[in-house]
Amino acid sequence: MNNANAKDVIKLKFLAVSAVLAAVTRNTTNGGHSPYQLDQLTEAERMSVITIGIEQLEVGMYVLEIAEQRAGTVHIKTRGRVTSQATIDELKRKGITRLVIETDVESNSTVSGQGLPANQYLETTVPLEDELARAEKLYHQGLKIQENLYKAIQDGTPFDDYVPKEFSTSLVGSLDRNPDALLLMTKIREKDSYLLEHSLNVGILLANFARFLELDEQEIEQLAYSGLLHDLGKIKIDDAILHKPGRLTVEEMEEMKKHVNYGVEFLHQMKIDSSLIKWVSEHHERLDGLGYPAQLTADQITRQGRMLAIVDMYDALTADRCYKPGMSSQKALQILLKDSKNKLDPSLLQQFIRCMGIYPVGSLVELSNNKVALVIKQNDKQPLKPHVRVFYSTAGNHYLTPKEVNLATDDRVKIDKAVVASDYNIDINRFFNESVLS
Ligand SMILES: [Fe+2]
Repeated sequence: MNNANAKDVIKLKFLAVSAVLAAVTRNTTNGGHSPYQLDQLTEAERMSVITIGIEQLEVGMYVLEIAEQRAGTVHIKTRGRVTSQATIDELKRKGITRLVIETDVESNSTVSGQGLPANQYLETTVPLEDELARAEKLYHQGLKIQENLYKAIQDGTPFDDYVPKEFSTSLVGSLDRNPDALLLMTKIREKDSYLLEHSLNVGILLANFARFLELDEQEIEQLAYSGLLHDLGKIKIDDAILHKPGRLTVEEMEEMKKHVNYGVEFLHQMKIDSSLIKWVSEHHERLDGLGYPAQLTADQITRQGRMLAIVDMYDALTADRCYKPGMSSQKALQILLKDSKNKLDPSLLQQFIRCMGIYPVGSLVELSNNKVALVIKQNDKQPLKPHVRVFYSTAGNHYLTPKEVNLATDDRVKIDKAVVASDYNIDINRFFNESVLS
């Protein structure tokens, strides 16, 4: 093929791709089925652009666009080449059923120098820095929604579930783009906002756990929603009991237990889906039948209720309260393990521990060079060596100019132990605001 012919074919291909993309866009708004008319394309065009089912997608293929997906709000960020089976699995999990692919883009060529960069990889995630600002906004929006929900239950006024439900979808969207951003946000605690933050954090951690278990997108969103709603009944409990620093008396405990049914009653008024209400009603039930309010036993508790119980306990143990600092993640997970024998689902707990990792994103670690760092990203292949942001010297007890270190590639320093901010009187919120979110 001479140069002029080759250029013509490339140009035709580009026109075909543009036509296809336009057709895909039109079709998506119409419920999205067959995205374009094959018989309107030339033979060369037919060879280069096809729609395939997700089960036909293979590593190395070049994806132009999603042609069809089950209900949901998933979008691929860029077109590009599929580089791993993990990407295919993620697309499947997100409910994508058909895709438009380009069959003839060579890895070292581009089409007329415009569009379709052939060496671009299909991205379903974004860098942490890109997601942090969105996650911060979302987190504050979540706190506001929680506040409004508590106010509604306290005042006995009806509450439309549209806003919190939509919020749950956005929350999962942020986790899909980059889970580390919202996971970092769960570490910013205001001491007197426990009630609001706890439910929001449980929603985030539960959705993250559900993603780890590769549940489908719809169930992940429902679990996020159940986390947001699980403790609403607490607003009806007297503050003296709710915020009591010490152990509750038997009478106080009986009063406290009522929060589950108060919440469930409100969720019925909100006309929340009944399966979701069941999960919420189970968050204090235990496998040995010694939980509350219904003393259900193992086979009566749903998997979602068991997941909620684990995440609820984990967040309660790691949260800073006005009367005590939160525990490190390791210590909290150890306590859950000790408690798991007859109470928490042991296999789900093992999965949750794997999901959180040895040093979860957002946790603090002390390094061998007497510096404290924030874990900002896991290294999947080397869980003991995450990416961290070093920001505090324990030798001089002062803040440092933050510096990012990938412990997997820097042999000079390693993690000595997990720590919590209160060990060194570190103002973690100030650090977040000045050095992570800014
Ligand atoms: Fe609760």
